[in-house]
Amino acid sequence: MSRQKAVLIMAAGLGTRMRSDRVKVLHPVAGRAMILYSVQLAVELGAQRIVLVLGHQRAQVEAVVRAAFPSAPIEIAVQEEQLGTAHAVLAGRQALADFDGDLFILSGDVPALTLDVVQRLDTATAGGLVGVVGMRLDAPGAYGRMILDAEGRLGGIVEARDCDPKQLQIDVVNAGIYRVDCQWAFPVLAQLGTDNAQGEYYLTDLVEAAAQAGHPSYALVLEGAESTSALGVNDRIDLARTEEVVQRRLREALMRGGVTLIAPERIWLHFDVTVGRDTLIEPDVSLLAGTRVGSGCTIRQGCRLESTEIADHAVIRAYTHTQNAQLGEAVIVGPFARLREGTVLGPRVKLGNFVETKKARFDEGAKASHLSYIGDAHIGARANIGAGTITCNYDGKNKFHTHVGADAFIGSDSQLVAPVHIGDGAYVGAGTTVTETVPPGALALSRQRQRNIEGWVERKRAAAASKDKGLEDT
Ligand code: UD1
Ligand code: MG
Repeated sequence: MSRQKAVLIMAAGLGTRMRSDRVKVLHPVAGRAMILYSVQLAVELGAQRIVLVLGHQRAQVEAVVRAAFPSAPIEIAVQEEQLGTAHAVLAGRQALADFDGDLFILSGDVPALTLDVVQRLDTATAGGLVGVVGMRLDAPGAYGRMILDAEGRLGGIVEARDCDPKQLQIDVVNAGIYRVDCQWAFPVLAQLGTDNAQGEYYLTDLVEAAAQAGHPSYALVLEGAESTSALGVNDRIDLARTEEVVQRRLREALMRGGVTLIAPERIWLHFDVTVGRDTLIEPDVSLLAGTRVGSGCTIRQGCRLESTEIADHAVIRAYTHTQNAQLGEAVIVGPFARLREGTVLGPRVKLGNFVETKKARFDEGAKASHLSYIGDAHIGARANIGAGTITCNYDGKNKFHTHVGADAFIGSDSQLVAPVHIGDGAYVGAGTTVTETVPPGALALSRQRQRNIEGWVERKRAAAASKDKGLEDT
């Protein structure tokens, strides 16, 4: 039987190098706070316990985590002062006092880390009391250097600031992801000192302590492109790099699922977006906040779709913006349409350019092809809304509802002054201001009958000419 697993996530630091008022682990990557990637990974690993070590802005961090994972076995440990990574882990000692098994130690600022890497850490380092993820880097920079022997045993980890010039040459570095024997580690951590360049309690000293006690430690070293999954975020440049890694993965997952991305690097995705097969997505499209696109759809250039559900075979033409909307099968929307919260389109609805909708339901086959505002409204099946139609839904204080019946025809440039009800099959003449109920099958007209004044232009010109002449004389 495999050993019990617990995960401790270090996330107490402010992240000074981010230069932000917001704590580092709440900065989003692919639309999700960084810390949530670590928690998700802990859940997927099957951790019986998840201990979050929090300090800066801990109430906000806890609220975000609890909202995203309401039923995960999460305990909060508080580290008031950040005295180093060993000190951070020790903050979780009480929460794990009775835990006998493997403790995986993660950081809240490594959002691209995959479950696969952590599982391999588990199997590849199973023989030792300590297992550490390393990565081989061309530019090892400020990372801790790993002292490995020929058999792959890890003798120690030396922080860059404590390295001698020779150690600085080592290109295998500590990614900051560990597996330790929980019962063994805590008493040892409690004995560590701060005799180093930063005067901090270093978690990495655990490796040397194990070696001194005769226990080997092992490393799982990530090579090449794979090392990007262990990238830590310390500043906004790291943040952008990590976003790129995560975006690439999300795009590749869509393509593997049968979605065509014409220019993958020009698509921006949130972590929780889904797209069905045979959907084609043109460049410069953003799919955000849980958007779900069906199969066989076309999303043309420049669309931004947020919290939007789109059924199969829809066409979203260029530069359309949607938020909290539901779009039925085979709808055609845009270009330049704006569908706001509470827009619900039935199958085969068509909304054209410069149409704005809000809390509006369009039943099957209804159309508004040009230049309209339809808010707080229900548009019946097959109804046609002419160009320039406006629902006047707001009197400065309250919002009112407009109903347009099935098969109704609203002439261009009409104002529907809500609350108002237009019956099934009714017609509204162009330019009408509708303020009263229109019965089914009736025609509503509110404009004045046209009259023509014959010869008016010529008389006007003659009058103007004689006036000008008068001016010249004086
Ligand atoms: C650490 C490692 C280094 C490794 C690097 C990988 C140590 C001593 N060094 O360095 O070998 O190459 O990570 O990214 O461990 N934290 C707390 N409380 C503290 C200190 C840190 O919660 O008192 C948290 C931070 O918020 C962060 C994580 O621990 O999420 C790592 O801390 P950080 O200061 O970034 O460590 P590094 O200097 O990067
Ligand atoms: Mg760091």
